[in-house]
Formats: sequence, C-alpha cells, structure tokens
Amino acid sequence: MKNTLDISISSIEELPQVAKTLLDFIGNEKTVLFYAPMGAGKTTLIKELCKTLGSTDNFSSPTYGIVNEYAYPNGKIFHFDLYRLKSLEELLDIGVEDYLASNDYCFFEWAELAENLVDTGVKVEISLSGNIRYLHAAKF
Ligand SMILES: Nc1ncnc2c1ncn2[C@@H]1O[C@H](COP(=O)(O)OP(=O)(O)OP(=O)(O)O)[C@@H](O)[C@H]1O
Ligand SMILES: [Mg+2]
Repeated sequence: MKNTLDISISSIEELPQVAKTLLDFIGNEKTVLFYAPMGAGKTTLIKELCKTLGSTDNFSSPTYGIVNEYAYPNGKIFHFDLYRLKSLEELLDIGVEDYLASNDYCFFEWAELAENLVDTGVKVEISLSGNIRYLHAAKF
C-alpha cells in the first residue's frame, strides 16, 4: 500500500477523477489536512470530495464560518477553514477535539493550527505552476 500520491491537474474538468483517486488513497483515514497557497483550489477540491462521498448539500452557502457541516449517506463531513484563526485556543474553543474524535470526516484548510491535535490522517499539498496544479498527498 502506497503512502504517497502525486497527481497533476491541468483542468478543472479533471477534478471528479482527482477526487475519486484521492478518496481511494485516503481509505479509512478521516482527517485530511490541506496546505496550499491562497486560491490554489482547496475549497473546490474539498467540495468535490464531498460530492464524491455522495453529499448533495448546497455548498455555496455564503455564510462561511470556521466549520461547515455537510451530510453524506454514511454520516457527516466537517469542513474547517482555519485561515482567520490566530491561536490554538480559538480552535479548541470551537470544540475541534470533539469533531476529531467523532470519526466523521474532518477536512482542514489552512491546517497548521490543527497539526498537533491529529495523530493520524492525510496531508494534501497543492502547488501551482502556471495553469498546472500539483497535488501531493501523504499519510502520517
Ligand atoms: N483544479 C482547478 N483548475 C482550475 N481552476 C481551479 C481549480 N481548482 C480551483 N480553481 C479555481 O480557483 C479559484 C480558487 O479556488 P478555491 O476557492 O477552491 O481556492 P482555495 O485554495 O480554497 O482559496 P483560499 O486560500 O482563499 O481558501 C476558484 O475560482 C476555482 O474555481
Ligand atoms: Mg478556501
């Protein structure tokens, strides 16, 4: 079983296949930490992962807080965006440890603050070079 995955993405039409491949790689892990520059496509990819998991929720909610909850046929997905958080304390205050212990999917954008709270999961890095995006995923 491979512990890393590398994909290059040259168009947004490839995302459904990318999401499938990434979900296969994620396997039984439930926590995924996303690292990428601003605008690299973290949210877009997470929404595609949610769709692939079978969620039909409306992801275009304009009221975007620190954590969004989506339903999918086997349970829940929690989607965090830690960009605006300044301290670990703020993250603990929203109950992140309960989310992590729930065994539901937890997807983190701007994941640095959550790193030390997660024992096992997948890190996904996206980098951009011209119009090509490179996705590198690794289990930890
Ligand atoms: N694979 C892709 N190919 C082409 N365009 C993409 C791709 N992924 C995302 N985009 C476009 O890039 C823009 C930014 O995407 P997105 O909001 O997902 O980035 P983000 O990494 O979540 O940004 P932020 O750092 O602000 O959270 C959107 O307009 C989106 O349509
Ligand atoms: Mg985003």
